[in-house]
Amino acid sequence: MDSKTMMKKLERIEDLPTLPTILFEVNRLLEDINTSAKKLSDTIKKDPSMVAKILKLVNSAFYGFRSRVSDISNAVVLLGFNTIRNAVISVSIIKAFSGKKELEGFDITEFWKHSIAVAVTSKRLAEKCRVEAPDSCFVAGLLHDIGKLVLSQYFQDLFTRVWITAQKENLTFYEAEKKEISVKHPMIGSFLAKKWQFPDHLVDAVKCHHAVLKSVSNYEMVLIVYGADIIVNHCAMEPEKLIDLSAVHPDAVEMLGSYMENTGEWYEKLKAEIESACGFFLKEEE
Ligand SMILES: [Fe+2]
Ligand SMILES: [Fe+2]
Repeated sequence: MDSKTMMKKLERIEDLPTLPTILFEVNRLLEDINTSAKKLSDTIKKDPSMVAKILKLVNSAFYGFRSRVSDISNAVVLLGFNTIRNAVISVSIIKAFSGKKELEGFDITEFWKHSIAVAVTSKRLAEKCRVEAPDSCFVAGLLHDIGKLVLSQYFQDLFTRVWITAQKENLTFYEAEKKEISVKHPMIGSFLAKKWQFPDHLVDAVKCHHAVLKSVSNYEMVLIVYGADIIVNHCAMEPEKLIDLSAVHPDAVEMLGSYMENTGEWYEKLKAEIESACGFFLKEEE
């Protein structure tokens, strides 16, 4: 299937997961600098299941507040607008894609565990490098591989072909995609992020997570998600070895090199946080 046919098919898919309207309302409100905390919490209150989920998130070990937060208005004040928006996005995305079919070579729980690990790692790297909006880096990390999910659900033959090539030739999924298909998962994922009207920095971070491009809306975020993905994959596959920095983009080495060289020191400690985020986001809906 050539890239034109594939993009056309992608555009025509009618049952692509939809996100709750509340997410778009929250996004719209946050674009207006005059939006008040009350207005934001009133909007979220329109969706009781979202309120319940956000309160659970705020009270989970993941955020680690000492006292219990039982009211969404307090949660908005405590966490701030951006963190609330990112919590709404994270909850919505995982929900939109839950209950999907599994294919051989594709385990949805494993997929989300990897995405959550990249999300938590991106956030931590952003904090370490003092990059703006670590919470947005979390969401970018959570979304980065979403194209794989679309591929596995709507282009099953292509997905299986890529997976078989990866197995046979001992390649990564992305390397096998380069051999087998014209539109690869970063492009598919960024298409979806655009369709969902996500901000440009998220669309770009998804698009460039395997091949860094300078001409993007937030280059630092692109480098962070790209670096976090390398670290998470490396530590899952061969943690006893060092990351080969000669294979990493020089700008990412300059920004993140010291953390990539020393994953044992800080990444080991981060694992508990990754576990707790997985526990929260992957728990069955009650
Ligand atoms: Fe990827
Ligand atoms: Fe990844």
